[in-house]
Amino acid sequence: MDLDKLMNQHLTRAFDGSKTIPDESLQQLLRFLRSAPTSTNIQPNHFYVLASAEAKRQLADNLGERFQDNSGKILNASHALILTTRADVPDSHLDEVFGKEDADGRFPDPAKRAMWQYMTRDFLSLRNYAYKDLNHWMEKQTYMVMGMTMMAAVELGFDATPLEGFDPTSVDKAFKIRETGHTTTVLMALGYPDREKAYKGPISRFEADRLFTFM
Ligand SMILES: Cc1cc2nc3c(=O)[nH]c(=O)nc-3n(C[C@H](O)[C@H](O)[C@H](O)COP(=O)(O)O)c2cc1C
Repeated sequence: MDLDKLMNQHLTRAFDGSKTIPDESLQQLLRFLRSAPTSTNIQPNHFYVLASAEAKRQLADNLGERFQDNSGKILNASHALILTTRADVPDSHLDEVFGKEDADGRFPDPAKRAMWQYMTRDFLSLRNYAYKDLNHWMEKQTYMVMGMTMMAAVELGFDATPLEGFDPTSVDKAFKIRETGHTTTVLMALGYPDREKAYKGPISRFEADRLFTFM
């Protein structure tokens, strides 16, 4: 990965609608996405992978009135992702997480397994009742997955632009997402830049002395 190149380029806002990500690259991205770690291994996400023109149109048409500007990005992207996050953590979800950990042989030692499950429940209880940020905490995990996806896409030779400009109620309704116990956190457009329309101006970021404290 060429970090110097990466740190000097704008996020892609205009995609070349004639180019499609090769299936093997997409599958590798999805394998990578699946491997992303989450706090307490909570795995609060479900991802919608939109490849067909109809699915992308359905998303573009349901961004909400004030976010029309993003519809062209989705329509011209090779693929669009809807990153959704659980709205809460019912026992059935924890049972699934612990069941999968058992099936994968994560804790062969029963004492360690019991300790892990106790600690996980305790941490979730803190989030829910003391910090009162259970959903927000889970969405932070989603943002980390989003960041990892952006980097992985570059490594695979295409671009991934996160899009916060959408109305979650509208997207949830269009894709019946709340019925699954999830809600939309962020969207991503994946594909290849339209070089003609790429921003050519300078990148604007705070200077290093404004950003870092060395101690
Ligand atoms: C989490 C996140 C969400 C974003 N959402 C949108 C969006 O909805 N629409 C858009 O055009 N750009 C979006 N952007 C792009 C940012 O506005 C852009 O990266 C920032 O203004 C810096 O501009 P630059 O990448 O050209 O340097 C988003 C970027 C991030 C990191």
